[in-house]
Amino acid sequence: MPLSSRHLLGIEGMPIGDIELILSTARSFSEIATRPIKKVPTLRGRSIINLFYEASTRTRSSFEIAAKRLSADILNFSVSTSSVGKGETLVDTARNLESMSPEIIVLRHQAAGAPWLLAETCRECSIVNAGDGMHEHPTQALLDAYTILERKGSIRDLKVAIVGDISHSRVARSNTYLLTKMGARVWICGPPTLIPLEFGQLGAAVTFHLEEALADADVVMMLRTQRERQNEVFFPSVREYFRLFGLSRERMRATREDAIIMHPGPINRGVEIDPDVADGDHSVILNQVTNGLAVRMAVLYLLLGAGEEES
Ligand code: NCD
Repeated sequence: MPLSSRHLLGIEGMPIGDIELILSTARSFSEIATRPIKKVPTLRGRSIINLFYEASTRTRSSFEIAAKRLSADILNFSVSTSSVGKGETLVDTARNLESMSPEIIVLRHQAAGAPWLLAETCRECSIVNAGDGMHEHPTQALLDAYTILERKGSIRDLKVAIVGDISHSRVARSNTYLLTKMGARVWICGPPTLIPLEFGQLGAAVTFHLEEALADADVVMMLRTQRERQNEVFFPSVREYFRLFGLSRERMRATREDAIIMHPGPINRGVEIDPDVADGDHSVILNQVTNGLAVRMAVLYLLLGAGEEES
């Protein structure tokens, strides 16, 4: 098998060789999107199930389109109209789906660790983590790394500021693991109430002052304040949040001139990012979405062992 694991669960334990293989495979797949017929027969006859217990716009459609571009069959399992509402557990749901012989289950779940549980339960198929609670979102970090590499050529020594609601963000955690592995200088920034202490131990610098995070930054990654995961008040008001941590054109002056602005989406305009910046010249937010397709094609392809004969 070209990857070291049958599953893609998180970036934390992933060897750098796997990360590099996914990124280089994605690079070769990106060209397919420019063809008049955006489809190759590579995964014909293979089945994939999208099992999403949480809302998603980009990730779910990205996995679906990626699978279709590789000619795999993909089922979008609809949790809201399934027997989950009748009390069926995640494990039972997955066992039943596995009995229909899919090769991959792509799981998004509100509980941290859910994909690891399925990886232990499902003997036959591969599990891809599409976001587990506040824990990891590996394909997002991979597509973010791809986007940075596309713009900057290398990740080593870049200053990357990750700003916003760090506590509730699986994107911040997966990116911190990945970018520090690849030699970036990661700065974590947000209100003290929204930064877990552990981030200092992951090799990132932590600051509560946006100016310090933005100073000479090469990459700025803005994050949404995840209201749906917050059951207490972490900051006084949206207006105050934007004043202290929102990214405006004026604030951008502190960054390097060629800095890029990233956001995993969904963006909340006027809360963490000014619309001018989100839509401005430095923004690569929609490029991230485009690159997500190539990265997910690479992940599906490599997990199915399709690269074996070439390696
Ligand atoms: C993120 C997620 O769901 O973790 N979005 C995404 O997958 N692109 C971030 C978020 O919800 O804010």
